[in-house]
Amino acid sequence: MESIKDQRKFLHNDLWKEWESIDRDQKKGIKPPAVQKPYPPEAPIIDLVAVQDLTVGEMPLVEALKRRKSRRDFTQESLTIEELSFLLWSTQGVLGENKKRGALFRPVPSAGARHPFETYLLINRVAGLQAGLYRYLSLEHKLCFLATESELFSRAQDEYWLQKNEAVLFIWTITPYRTEWRYGVLAHKMIAMEAGHICQNLYLACEAIHAGACAIGAFWQKEMDALLDIDGEDEFAIYLARVGKV
Ligand SMILES: Cc1cc2nc3c(=O)[nH]c(=O)nc-3n(C[C@H](O)[C@H](O)[C@H](O)COP(=O)(O)O)c2cc1C
Repeated sequence: MESIKDQRKFLHNDLWKEWESIDRDQKKGIKPPAVQKPYPPEAPIIDLVAVQDLTVGEMPLVEALKRRKSRRDFTQESLTIEELSFLLWSTQGVLGENKKRGALFRPVPSAGARHPFETYLLINRVAGLQAGLYRYLSLEHKLCFLATESELFSRAQDEYWLQKNEAVLFIWTITPYRTEWRYGVLAHKMIAMEAGHICQNLYLACEAIHAGACAIGAFWQKEMDALLDIDGEDEFAIYLARVGKV
């Protein structure tokens, strides 16, 4: 019971009163961290469809809102690259950048425009793409190919997420320091709230292309981080979503 109360405190906003005195790297004049994780120079890069060329996603917002629900049963149909481009842009695309502030503007809000997320994709069924692990390079609006299916099976400590039920599994990781740099100890609740914004955009964008999404908060931390080959400290998975045609 004590631990439930402790966890509740994480949701309180008491510390905001101490904003002026909170220890933060921005206040010390330290330069902002990179807005995007670097990618391996040898990694194959895949072009996506630019937002101005998209022909999908025209459904009126009110219809997408009315249709929205968590979808867990998907057809075997593949997504197209254009549909995937739309989903990635809707969730973490770039609308603008302030290089001096190290700030980005996207279709989702982020406290202080810090955007501490990276988007990984476990792709099972996207026409023209081999199955495997990819990462969205939002600044370039491209995909970076990271691992084949067989590499994933060999590194997996748990094969649950390699079962191919969905066309694509979205996996959002966070690099907490991007937000901690500005907010210090106040960063973490905001990061959790921001994850919800991203997933809601995914739900609506999926409905707009007659696909569906289901948010996933229940996954095993260590095993997911191992699958992504990330350190679990300075970057770790925070939220997933299944996506497929319905
Ligand atoms: C933060 C969060 C975590 C969730 N985690 C899971 C999950 O792990 N597994 C799952 O099947 N659904 C998950 N869901 C989906 C909820 O079960 C779903 O939103 C709820 O049943 C209401 O249904 P609706 O989205 O169709 O309105 C999650 C939803 C949210 C917002």
